Amino acid sequence: MARNMLVTGGAGFIGSNFVHYVMEHTDDTVTVLDKFTYAGNEASLAGLPENRVRVVRGDICDGELVDQLVSDTDIVVHYAAESHNDNSLHDPKPFLDTNIIGTYTLLEAVRRHEKRIHHISTDEVYGDLELDDPERFNEHTAYNPSSPYSSTKAGSDLLVRAWVRSFGLQATISNCSNNYGPRQHVEKFIPRQITNILIGERPKLYGEGLNVRDWIHADDHSSAVLRIIDQGRLGETYLIGADGEKNNKDVLELILETMGQPTDAYEHVVDRPGHDLRYAIDPTKIRDELGWEPAYSDFTAGLEATVQWYRDNEAWWQPQKAATEAKYREQGQ
Ligand code: NAD
Ligand code: DAU
Repeated sequence: MARNMLVTGGAGFIGSNFVHYVMEHTDDTVTVLDKFTYAGNEASLAGLPENRVRVVRGDICDGELVDQLVSDTDIVVHYAAESHNDNSLHDPKPFLDTNIIGTYTLLEAVRRHEKRIHHISTDEVYGDLELDDPERFNEHTAYNPSSPYSSTKAGSDLLVRAWVRSFGLQATISNCSNNYGPRQHVEKFIPRQITNILIGERPKLYGEGLNVRDWIHADDHSSAVLRIIDQGRLGETYLIGADGEKNNKDVLELILETMGQPTDAYEHVVDRPGHDLRYAIDPTKIRDELGWEPAYSDFTAGLEATVQWYRDNEAWWQPQKAATEAKYREQGQ
């Protein structure tokens, strides 16, 4: 049976990739609820079937609007968030509003209308690991967030858990590692470096670049979320990762090599305050319990395709680029 999904944040990076994925792999229809902040982009939803995708411009903190949209849906898939750590260090307030109050507003509507919600979260709620720690994050790791961004995501996860326990809310949660792929805002690491090279600017590495991120392609994140929606147990949390650990310096050198540049053609800039050292996901639960496997096992090939997407879609990213770099320049980054 085809469902109607309410996808919050569906005009952002991962949300829009999810909507494209749902169109290709299911018969479901989607209502996107997005505030179109600096991170939302109408062009990310271009070309989707009009009879299956409706776009509503609005705020997840708007209780009346949220109530009406939730009442008309079968399931809420909640991506909307303020998502960038660096921004949260300079202006935390929008992170509290959207990530905490926005999530609370959705939870109350889902409770009133007895619907299902899947809450999208991040591995950053667990804090960071030492480089040589043999352990990876799993569903039992204690929460220990570092930044205003990750602490508000941790807060939103705890709200979902409390609504499950106290009110029997029909909810699942997933915590995913760093995504890469098309349609990611140029403020983020991989698109920033690719587009810097494309405009003749040198890439910028924070500190020594030894920090490790666990990369996963956005389509693999989408397939995992769909699997949880279809087969996940209510009330459960699933970690999503694809064994993609790499340090930032290695990723940057690979981008430079892929784009035909000398691998040392970049600058070291001031490090991020409180910069998490390493994230790493143990995806055993989702693999064993739900039989999910990532499709993108070759990071180099996935990165090459991503570079090609930014080469082919300058009209998508060019309008964001100057303002993003101006903001970074003010911060010395
Ligand atoms: P993004 O910043 O690219 O997109 C966020 C979207 O939410 C934008 O379209 C924005 O307009 C919308 N939005 C913001 N505030 C809103 C509000 N108040 N009401 C309605 N819409 C609003 O973010 P992303 O990287 O696509 O991340 C999406 C989700 O996935 C977030 O919840 C994030 O925490 C989570 N996540 C991201 C990653 C990653 O690597 N990017 C990894 C794991 C989890
Ligand atoms: O782990 C999941 C998280 O991944 C998500 O929850 C966040 O929404 C998402 O933004 C991402 O957070 P990070 O802080 O890891 O991503 P970012 O792209 O900002 O940075 C990745 C790494 O690259 C990080 O160690 C900082 C570094 N960096 C970043 C930028 C923008 C640089 O060295 N240079 C840069 O110019």
